[in-house]
Amino acid sequence: MGPGRLTCVLVLALVLALGSRPQEQPPRESHNLNWNKFSGFWYILAVASESRGFLPGRGRRKLGASVVKVLKAGQLKVVLAFSRSQGCQSHTLILRKDRKKAMFRNTLKGVEGFHVLSTDYSYGVVYVRLGRAGRTSKTLLFFSRENTSSFPSMRKFVDVCEILEVANAVTVLPKDASCAHTILP
Ligand SMILES: *[C@@H]1O[C@H](CO)[C@@H](O)[C@H](O)[C@H]1NC(C)=O
Repeated sequence: MGPGRLTCVLVLALVLALGSRPQEQPPRESHNLNWNKFSGFWYILAVASESRGFLPGRGRRKLGASVVKVLKAGQLKVVLAFSRSQGCQSHTLILRKDRKKAMFRNTLKGVEGFHVLSTDYSYGVVYVRLGRAGRTSKTLLFFSRENTSSFPSMRKFVDVCEILEVANAVTVLPKDASCAHTILP
């Protein structure tokens, strides 16, 4: 069994194990998140999305990446790179802080919310709500400073996916950094 396959089996085992547990409290946004510490380059090692077509077919999947930068108080610049069916694509978004909630958004660009649900600044569970009011879909991204992850942080990601009911869409991306590295700062 190759390492990719082993990861899939582990994740599946985890999903099944978590599935039998009683529902936990929904994750809360991190109000005391230090965005300066969260800034910089991240690999995206896994994705769970409600929107079909977010990821390309198996053969075209690669690690994603993100570069997060605080522009000024209340503004965040987020670059995201993903291997899509059309190839490696990157997008730059300027997000504005919500006045009350610990999240950022750019409704003109179809980002209703960008929240960090869990982080120790070496990994991050990021919740992105894409679409327009009334027609949005959830996407959870597993950020990691390294191209590999520790089992507890991956478990945390799957845990959050389970609570948000996207655990059956968890996809661990293949360890190919060729697209991710196109946005290295
Ligand atoms: C992962 O990162 C390490 C250390 O930065 C590097 O040596 C290794 O080649 C990387 N692996 C892949 C698949 O990019």
